[in-house]
Amino acid sequence: MIINPRSAGMTACAVWVLLLFWLSSFCVLGDEKRIRQGEYLFRVSGCLSCHTDVLNNGPELAGGRALHTAFGIFYSPNITSDAKTGIGLWTDEEFLRALREGVSPKGEFYYPAFPYTSYTLMTDSDVLAMKAYIFSRPAVVKENVSHDLVFPISIRELLLFWRILFFSEGPFIPDLESAQEITRGSYLVDAVAHCGECHTPRNVLGAVVESQYLSGTTHGINGDSAPNITPHATGLMSWDQEDLIYFLRSGIKPNYDNVQGSMAEAIEHSLSFLNDSDLKAISNYLKTVTPMPTAYKKE
Ligand code: HEC
Ligand code: HEC
Repeated sequence: MIINPRSAGMTACAVWVLLLFWLSSFCVLGDEKRIRQGEYLFRVSGCLSCHTDVLNNGPELAGGRALHTAFGIFYSPNITSDAKTGIGLWTDEEFLRALREGVSPKGEFYYPAFPYTSYTLMTDSDVLAMKAYIFSRPAVVKENVSHDLVFPISIRELLLFWRILFFSEGPFIPDLESAQEITRGSYLVDAVAHCGECHTPRNVLGAVVESQYLSGTTHGINGDSAPNITPHATGLMSWDQEDLIYFLRSGIKPNYDNVQGSMAEAIEHSLSFLNDSDLKAISNYLKTVTPMPTAYKKE
């Protein structure tokens, strides 16, 4: 058989083009999947509602939302991909460092009003999926507003001491003895949905008291009281799995009360987006935490 060198060359070329096309379609699908994963995590971890000034119809992710705390008012920054006023120039490493270590690209420490203390437990791939999602959203030009904090909390450098005392860096270490679903539940509760940031009491310096994990506090975000959610008689002992799942979806308690305050917001903007298997994992995990009596007196 005589092979025409020219047509053989063309066939080889066509095979290469097809192969490249096939491979690149995998890349696009891979990116799309990663962005969807990022969007899910981004929602359920509450980034959207804290970084959007919903009250004043502010643009999505452009910050400026006021957070009232015992230490003054924090204003969330612009985290859109705008190069100047947002985080558009950040590398993956810089994004990971902010979420996992609470340190800015300039080397400044972040205040724990940004719950990096929980996000530090997230895996690198989950954190970077969130970055992919943020960078797929529109960039918004909006300057950041300075926080309005009491002295000496206003001195950012003092956070060094706070960090030495209270910050332990992740990632999450799964308990190998636990079932996979319980491990997923504890990852969601501690790292992603950061229930403890609101439901665990804090000491006078604003650090969560791990020995009273999830046992409720009167000094929650925006001055809200967050109830005990451990399986204790003063907590969620009487709630079954279905009660909790229904509550996280709808905000309706087993006694038909509607949820209020920051939990209503957490449910509306984040927790109601949890998928069925994650809701199940959370409610099963909460049944396994140490029952603790409520540390504060109910009014
Ligand atoms: C409870 C409110 C709250 C939530 C929830 C929250 N943040 Fe923030 N975030 C803040 C505040 C406040 C700051 C500023 C901290 C400071 O100035 O030290 C901040 C800072 C940041 C920064 C640094 C921006 C910069 O310009 O230096 C990034 C990035 C960020 N947040 C991303 C996220 C992501 C991603 C999530 C979700 C996984 C998230 N945040 C959830 C309140 C929040
Ligand atoms: C931003 C703060 C915040 C976060 C995050 C948060 N909660 Fe809440 N939660 C609250 C507040 C405040 C209330 C009280 C609301 C009320 O009284 O209506 C509450 C109420 C509840 C209740 C009702 C308990 C009762 O006895 O009435 C449950 C259950 C609950 N939260 C579970 C969770 C779980 C599980 C998570 C994490 C997946 C979570 N919360 C995350 C602030 C928060």
